[in-house]
Amino acid sequence: MCDTMCPVCLFVIGFLIVGYLLLCVYLKSTRRYCRSEVDLTGKTVIVTGGNTGLGYITARELASRNARVILACRNAEKAETAVEKIISETGKKNIVSKKLDVSSLKSVREFAEQFLKEESRLDILINNAGIITNDSKLTEDGLQVTYATNHFGPFLLTNLLLERLKASTPSRVVTLSSYGHHFGKIHFENFKIPMLFEGSETYGSTKLANVLFTFELAKRVKEEGVTAYSVHPGLCKSNLFDSFHPILQWILLNLNPFTKSIEEGAQTTIYCAIEKGIEEHSGKYFDNLQVGCANAKGYDAGVAKKLWEVSESLTKLA
Ligand SMILES: NC(=O)c1ccc[n+]([C@@H]2O[C@H](COP(=O)([O-])OP(=O)(O)OC[C@H]3O[C@@H](n4cnc5c(N)ncnc54)[C@H](OP(=O)(O)O)[C@@H]3O)[C@@H](O)[C@H]2O)c1
Repeated sequence: MCDTMCPVCLFVIGFLIVGYLLLCVYLKSTRRYCRSEVDLTGKTVIVTGGNTGLGYITARELASRNARVILACRNAEKAETAVEKIISETGKKNIVSKKLDVSSLKSVREFAEQFLKEESRLDILINNAGIITNDSKLTEDGLQVTYATNHFGPFLLTNLLLERLKASTPSRVVTLSSYGHHFGKIHFENFKIPMLFEGSETYGSTKLANVLFTFELAKRVKEEGVTAYSVHPGLCKSNLFDSFHPILQWILLNLNPFTKSIEEGAQTTIYCAIEKGIEEHSGKYFDNLQVGCANAKGYDAGVAKKLWEVSESLTKLA
């Protein structure tokens, strides 16, 4: 140990600080923005969990391009506050909120029923709402809560709205996955039992389900003018990590050079929702505004088909 800072220690510390700052600058320079100025006048968009985080930015950016935006949220008060904020930030008024608890199959059915009654078209569905939790409870439907929120709810919602998407072609379904899908595995036997694993492992599994769902959906609607994309937004400074230990959360979100702002993180979702010419990549996983490196497990046709059929049965769609 040095009594006072020796030149070598000073050099090493300085080197690490400069290296860290250069890495931050480099990573920032690699982040891409969706520059599409497409006019969405006459188009209707649903953003689940659009009241905060990535969903809020996505909803705001699509509203600013003149879409009619429906924030589908579980908390009516937070949703209305977000609607007012988007209106004041964009000057656009065609934004409403509707009640949706995506973890409840009953709520998903009620939302879809009301939507189909009230709205004549659906051009873009953004399955954004999601959680990471160590809570191992089952939902009222007897489903593991992370799975219910991150996969079964979006699965049912998309299917209930599919005819309206088909009637509004060219239409798109964008589902928020995560790089974490690389660490996931589909445990078909575990959907209806309290969590057996750490929250983050279950999360990775649900995010793998998002990639598989998108892959299978794209296949099923290939000839019908609907395209589907799964998205990794990057590690972003949102409320997603509220269940983490505060110190870990702080380090992850404030010291990690890879962490993005929610504005940066929402860009790939916005890109997949509106960019022209990406239709040939329907079914793929996107990262940083391009087709990303998905785990091969995400494109396993057998698992994707089985997951679809099991999901149909558990959500009572079939
Ligand atoms: N942030 C990241 O680093 C990151 C990385 C990879 C993937 N993602 C994915 O990006 C998506 C958005 O996450 P975020 O970072 O923006 O997180 P966030 O700030 O926590 O926002 C999540 C949104 O989902 C909503 N939500 C949660 N459970 C819901 C339910 N049962 N019904 C309806 N809405 C529900 C939340 O509503 P409340 O406000 O009422 O809680 C909130 O609006 C998630 O699918 C997440 O997995 C995020």
